[in-house]
Amino acid sequence: MASTAALLILAVTVHAPTADVVRAESPARSQSVDEAYSEPLRPQFHFTARKNWLNDPNGLVFFAGQYHLFFQHNPSGIEWGNMTWGHAVSDDLVHWRQLDDAIEPDALGTIFSGSAVVDWKNTAGFQTGDEPALVAMYTAAGGTSPASQGAKFTQCLAYSNDRGQTWTKYDGNPVVSHIAADNRDPKVIWHEPSERWVMALYLDKNDFALFNSPDLKKWERIDDLTVPGSIECPDFFELPVVGKPGESKWIFWTANNVYLIGEFDGRDFQPEGEPQRFEHGANCFAAQSYSDIPAQDGRRIQIAWMRGGKYPGMPFNQQMTFPTSLTLHATDEGYRLRSQPVAEIESLRGEKFTWNGELNDAENPLEQLAGETYEFALTIEPADAKRIILDIRGAQLSYDVATQELSFGESKARAPLVGGKLTLRVLVDRASVEAYANDGSVTLSNCFEPEPSKLAYRLSGASAKVDKLTVWPLKSAWRSRDEE
Ligand code: FRU
Repeated sequence: MASTAALLILAVTVHAPTADVVRAESPARSQSVDEAYSEPLRPQFHFTARKNWLNDPNGLVFFAGQYHLFFQHNPSGIEWGNMTWGHAVSDDLVHWRQLDDAIEPDALGTIFSGSAVVDWKNTAGFQTGDEPALVAMYTAAGGTSPASQGAKFTQCLAYSNDRGQTWTKYDGNPVVSHIAADNRDPKVIWHEPSERWVMALYLDKNDFALFNSPDLKKWERIDDLTVPGSIECPDFFELPVVGKPGESKWIFWTANNVYLIGEFDGRDFQPEGEPQRFEHGANCFAAQSYSDIPAQDGRRIQIAWMRGGKYPGMPFNQQMTFPTSLTLHATDEGYRLRSQPVAEIESLRGEKFTWNGELNDAENPLEQLAGETYEFALTIEPADAKRIILDIRGAQLSYDVATQELSFGESKARAPLVGGKLTLRVLVDRASVEAYANDGSVTLSNCFEPEPSKLAYRLSGASAKVDKLTVWPLKSAWRSRDEE
């Protein structure tokens, strides 16, 4: 938890419980970029709350052409507390519009993390019109507010019959009573073969459980699992194996980017092999993947909280990662995940600049760059170079050729050369650097705090051969949204 116990004790700021139905701000009333999103440290293509603290992405669901991004929000403070579901929508995962907060604290607790689904078959009976209801399942964090003193952590439902604009809490809450410690973070999926909802829940220590339900209201505990070194915010999903038609595996994911791969028959998850660590950056936590992405799209799209970073003097605190798409690959070491930024980033690209040739100490192929937001794509053969360095405004993304390690500040990951080459995609925003090596098999997501006056970039590592370097300046997602 955002430093669990201490934060819970600190989270006693009064946040008066409000009516169960909350009106969302109409998109037409959106705030212009002149009023917000243009502050000096405001990320330009990573989601931030317009104001105040944000942590985990919650309730990621796609419906009626909109990606919903709910998030842990403190509506009244720049630090963690008063947890409430903030809400933003986008039609392309790049340009977001923040609406009013969606789910607010009540006598059962403040509103901790959870997920959302489209109830296509109206299994819960919440649907009132022609369209299916959206159903959110969240943790009511009892005891974290004056209004919920004495209550324990339980799992609850809220639903929307107007495409996510307003939310009503289920009057039969909680639907899962307290099990252990601060059990929390339900992630719900529809399991078609068993025609059941399946929920992954964090219990305590490194323990998680799976539940199933015919209607989102009655839940049966069907499986328990322990994932060494793992805590919080589970995700559970099936992925096809790339290049192996008909083959797929189940992934059990946890907040600190450790995942298990295995088989799931609707009741029992059988892990195969050791837990794997994905994502080696310093600032990536509590990733969640989207529910209800249409089958013809088929992507497993993930957003995580970029936990940490400093934003002095800013009206917001914390940011999300840029959305990525996950794929599963059969490798010599077993099945492994890869992730790449979603292709929609292309809508932000300005005129590209390309270069190839041998790096030498005298020249800097990136001399002409002087901006804050870029995407880099690079294929490089190290040749006799010992170290290849992409210097980003004074921070170094560095590849050690002898150890085949990619590092950024304190974060490090082995990224073995593939066919003698290293490929890199790098997204640079005002307060973050996200690197994807070797087609996303190794990723490093990091916050960074460059000095505003430092705008230089350099690529060095004599005599490495750059097969191809492409650099796109990226437009501000906030500015380009309001120009639409
Ligand atoms: C993860 C987490 C969750 C919890 C939420 C509270 O960052 O601690 O376990 O639901 O944040 O904000």
